[in-house]
Amino acid sequence: MYDETDAERYDEDNADVSTEEVLAPMLDVLAELAGDGPALEFASGTGRVAVPLAARGVKVEGIELSPHMTAKLHQKVPTESIPVVEGDMATATAPHVGEYSVVFLVFNTISNLRTQAEQVECFRNAARHLRPGGHFVIELWVPQLHRMAPGMRLAPMHFDEGHLVFDTYDVATQQCASHHYRPAADGSTRYGVGRFRYAWPAECDLMAQLAGLQLESRWADWDRSPFTGDSPSHVSIWRKAERQ
Ligand SMILES: C[S@@+](CC[C@H](N)C(=O)[O-])C[C@H]1O[C@@H](n2cnc3c(N)ncnc32)[C@H](O)[C@@H]1O
Repeated sequence: MYDETDAERYDEDNADVSTEEVLAPMLDVLAELAGDGPALEFASGTGRVAVPLAARGVKVEGIELSPHMTAKLHQKVPTESIPVVEGDMATATAPHVGEYSVVFLVFNTISNLRTQAEQVECFRNAARHLRPGGHFVIELWVPQLHRMAPGMRLAPMHFDEGHLVFDTYDVATQQCASHHYRPAADGSTRYGVGRFRYAWPAECDLMAQLAGLQLESRWADWDRSPFTGDSPSHVSIWRKAERQ
């Protein structure tokens, strides 16, 4: 789904979440969990996180579906410094299976797996890659159903001059579509839609449990602020037992 054009635009479209200031608290957490590594990023994309994490001295590897996104990553660093396996994070195998100190999956990307079965497999695949005592970290939005007026299936999510976002929900199937509108200087509007399966934090815990992982921390953000009923997203960390 992330084709050559998406890969070309990705860094520019996400410049606001790629600054040193925004990334620093995330990198602090991941570097701490990685310790002497190695670390594995599921859905490593163009290296928004993997590249600065590796720059901190962490040995980082990736699994990524889109060769176009990986090609962009490898324009920034040599292939051998952040090796990426092309494949599905629910099933693909990275070279150091069973040895990673941390597996991380950020930017809501578990939702790109559109069925519960695939999401369960993703948790299992993360657990399989971890060494005993290792951690699986996800960053995921909390479904914003409470922001919709009664009877509505649509919620405005973001508005600024250059970017307008509406989400539509199907509560029967836990599917969400995120509609992005970006006005261009010539008066035209670029439209893109992302389709996701949403999962509540409690469902994530159950998927983790099925994979042999136990919840260790849940925060509202990378700054480790408390997760509450009002938090629009969460950072969750599960631990693989020392002995299975
Ligand atoms: C929103 S981007 C996140 C990239 C990067 N993690 C970041 O934080 O910038 C989502 C990425 O997930 C990848 N992706 C989607 N489904 C995937 C899957 N099943 N397995 C591996 N990668 C996947 C896409 O190709 C894309 O690179």
